[in-house]
This record gives sequence, C-alpha cells and structure tokens, in this order.
Amino acid sequence: MKVLVTGAGGMLGTDVVRAARLVNHEVVALARADLDVTDEPAVREALEAERPDAVINCAAYTAVDAAEDDLEGAMLVNAEAARIVSAAAASVGARVVYPSTDYVFDGSKSEPYVESDSPRPLSVYGQSKLAGERETAAANPTHYVVRSSWLFGAAGRNFVETMLALGTDHREVLVVRDQVGCPTWTGHLAEALVRLLDGEAYGLHHIAADGECSWYEFAQRIFEQAGVDCRVMSCTSDEFGRPAPRPPYSVLRSEREDTVFLPHWRDGLSSYLSGRMVAA
Ligand SMILES: NC(=O)c1ccc[n+]([C@@H]2O[C@H](COP(=O)([O-])OP(=O)(O)OC[C@H]3O[C@@H](n4cnc5c(N)ncnc54)[C@H](OP(=O)(O)O)[C@@H]3O)[C@@H](O)[C@H]2O)c1
Repeated sequence: MKVLVTGAGGMLGTDVVRAARLVNHEVVALARADLDVTDEPAVREALEAERPDAVINCAAYTAVDAAEDDLEGAMLVNAEAARIVSAAAASVGARVVYPSTDYVFDGSKSEPYVESDSPRPLSVYGQSKLAGERETAAANPTHYVVRSSWLFGAAGRNFVETMLALGTDHREVLVVRDQVGCPTWTGHLAEALVRLLDGEAYGLHHIAADGECSWYEFAQRIFEQAGVDCRVMSCTSDEFGRPAPRPPYSVLRSEREDTVFLPHWRDGLSSYLSGRMVAA
C-alpha cells in the first residue's frame, strides 16, 4: 500500500512514517516544508503526482493556548486544510485518516467518553479540531477520524520531557491534579493508525491508551520509572492558570468492536523511556 503522510516532521507524523515503513508500506513523508496543507493547488498536485492509497493527515495547529487568540490560524490548518486534504484524497480514490483530540469534549462526564457522546469543546483548539473532523468526514466517505489524547513521543516537545527537564533542575514540581485523561505514546497510536488501514472500519474511532490518570499521577509515575528524585506537588487548573480551558475528565474509550485497542499508558511510558535510553 502507498501511504502519504502530511505533517511528517511532527511528533505523531514521525512515528506514523516509521510504523508504516515497518509494515513495508511505500511511504511518501511530507513535512511542512515539503507540503503546506493550506495550499490547495499544492495539495491537489502532490496527491495527483503520488496517487497514494491512503493519506494520514498529521499536519495540525497544536498550540492549544496560543489558539485562544488565533481562531483564524487554528481553523485554517485544523479545519479548512482538513477539508483540502480529505477532498484531494477523495479525488484520487485515497482513504484519509484525521487524528483528533479528547479536547472536543467538555469533560463534564465522570465515565469514559465513547464515540456516540456529544462533543462540546471548551477551547478554540478543540473547536477547530471538531470542525476538522466534520470537514474530513464530509469531503471523503472513506475516512477514519481518530480521537486520541495526551500524546507523548520522541519527535516532539511533550509532558514527559518537560517533567524530566524540570526534575533535573528542581527538587519539586507543581502539576495539576484535576484533569484526568489517557496519556498515549505516539509509538502505540501510530501503529494503530497504520493498522486501521488494513480494514474498512470507516468513521469515528476513540483510540487512546488503556487506563487513566491525572497529570499529577502521570508526573509521579514518570519520575518513579525514570529514577528521578523529584517531589511532585499538586494544584488545581485554576491555580495553574493556562489561557485555554481543558476538560477536567477526558478519558476516551471505544464502543466499536472493529477498532484498535492500545496498551496501558504505563506500558507506553516504559517504551518511551526505554527508547530514550537507547537514543542517549
Ligand atoms: N499532542 C497531543 O497531545 C495531541 C493529543 C490528541 C490529538 N493530537 C492530534 O495529533 C495530531 C498530531 O499532533 P502532534 O502532537 O504530532 O503535533 P505536532 O508535533 O505539532 O505536529 C504537527 C505538525 O504539523 C505541521 N504543520 C503545521 N501547520 C502546517 C501546514 N500548514 N502544512 C503542513 N504542516 C503543518 C507542524 O509543523 P511546524 O512544527 O513547522 O509548525 C508539525 O510538524 C494533530 O492532529 C493533533 O491535533 C495531539
């Protein structure tokens, strides 16, 4: 199968390219410098030239806090470009994968969110991703919209690296305890996205790590597993004060039988930390 990956230089994109190559797909990896997904003629031209069987659209505006003051910028990449990529894929008969986020939910539930739950984003970022889900679906019937959450991977700035950096310079760190979700290793998610392409389970999927925890519990586990001696203090989101509101509870589970289920977040963390040791 020939797979074209947009945003291939990003955190998830890098692991998607690796996962697709591992199963011997022919991969066309296009980072932002190779293809700007907001440039409609360029996207059409790239897809017509490559004629892939599937497009995994990992290009995104992911600055959650900056998006609060940049609705237009977030909508351009996450929604308008999602339409461009999805329509261009449809026009060459390619399927399209659109990674999305738990931030489409308001977090008012106290049990896991499933695909049939109604989204209600609290932030501009969440709003732009929900719009992108809808644009992707409307432009191409052979779409997989995959909501995941709290990603960490080797190719990007992420919470694990932030904690490890803070832990080497400080004796204690302050982390929020009132947001609960599923920290998901991009290595696991990337494999799942590639695996979805083996079947025709189109539509909406919730694919995040098994288990759940707060950022506070996640930080504790990171230091424990990495053997870093740093005390984790907890605070509320209000005390921490970020520009974009986050859902207090955004655990994702699937009610589908034809989806891909991921290992526990603690296994994802172990794999991530082992890879980090090897790379060092
Ligand atoms: N990170 C998370 O916790 C999380 C959670 C749930 C879902 N997701 C979703 O997962 C996907 C991948 O996220 P990620 O964490 O891998 O983000 P990322 O590391 O920021 O990757 C996004 C990539 O898209 C590129 N990009 C931005 N604008 C572009 C444009 N106009 N044309 C082409 N490429 C463009 C970025 O390039 P530059 O770096 O040069 O801007 C970056 O390489 C996104 O759809 C995101 O919404 C992420």
